[in-house]
Amino acid sequence: MMTYVLIIGRRIKMLYLAPLEGITGYIYRNAYQKYFGGIDRYFTPFIAPAKGKPFRHRELADVRPEHNTGIMVIPQILTNHSEGFIKAAKALTDMGYDEININMGCPSGTVVSKGKGSGMLADPTKLDHFLEEIFAADICKISVKTRLGMEFADEFPDILDVLMKYPFTEVIIHPRTREDYYGGSVDLAMFDLAVERYGEQTESVLCYNGDITDAAGYKNIQKRYPQVDKIMIGRGIIGNPFLPQEIAEQRCCYNAGILLAFHDELFAGYMEAGLGARNVMFKMKELWSFMECLFEAPDQQKILKKIRKANDPDTYNTEVRKLLR
Ligand SMILES: Cc1cc2nc3c(=O)[nH]c(=O)nc-3n(C[C@H](O)[C@H](O)[C@H](O)COP(=O)(O)O)c2cc1C
Repeated sequence: MMTYVLIIGRRIKMLYLAPLEGITGYIYRNAYQKYFGGIDRYFTPFIAPAKGKPFRHRELADVRPEHNTGIMVIPQILTNHSEGFIKAAKALTDMGYDEININMGCPSGTVVSKGKGSGMLADPTKLDHFLEEIFAADICKISVKTRLGMEFADEFPDILDVLMKYPFTEVIIHPRTREDYYGGSVDLAMFDLAVERYGEQTESVLCYNGDITDAAGYKNIQKRYPQVDKIMIGRGIIGNPFLPQEIAEQRCCYNAGILLAFHDELFAGYMEAGLGARNVMFKMKELWSFMECLFEAPDQQKILKKIRKANDPDTYNTEVRKLLR
């Protein structure tokens, strides 16, 4: 594992790995930390508390302290019911966590139709009420990961008014609306507004998230927001796990041997968790849909096609070895 601080323009920045449902579970987080590191905080994919018990089996496995040793993990909760939040937050603090992140960004139709995730942004009064109740319960530190609004970016000033009423430890902003999903470009003018409104608190509270895929992209955000000390990256790191090192060292850090060892650790970890070889192969294929950006040469593209088409784990692993020899 490597550790390094990012010192660019004399400011030391914190780097967070964004939560990606289905990808950044505890097996990924531990393997990532072992082979790459350089992440100050890992956020769990969302936990959606159901009525009755706060966690499903898979969610509980993801936050169990013994699955998260030696890394800084912030559990994320997706709910619009204060009672559900409070129950889950209590269970998590009993496990030793002292901060919970609220998901106000998930754009998925099934989530938004229930008024959760970015659906919470549709009604600032209701949102205010929810926040009032969970902050009044005073269980632990609370941070939030939000989008700009449901349909239009100009919903954001009203949402910001509500967020600013509460002592969030961190406000992570992905400057897109729900309607944008992941399309189009990020709306930096709205992140500018948040920086302006938070003023001196920007450094301790605001975190930027969105579309950083290389060291140059990181540098652009760093240059535009020297006062922002926390940057969260998702797809950029999943696609190129060497990215934190490349940001720190400003050079290409690709190493096939390290990537293969990381890959095999993940494969073995998912097998050990009882997913079964074929399911593990499908899970790994999802990862390749992000990592294929690392392989542009025509012969590599041909192997990637065979990886995508592989029907059995042996063929799959043979092709992966050809790609990463
Ligand atoms: C497949 C996938 C799953 C995601 N799951 C979550 C999640 O569980 N919780 C969350 O807050 N955001 C989730 N996100 C959003 C990311 O955390 C992040 O905000 C988004 O990808 C933008 O950042 P990026 O451009 O650096 O990837 C997900 C995104 C993707 C593509």
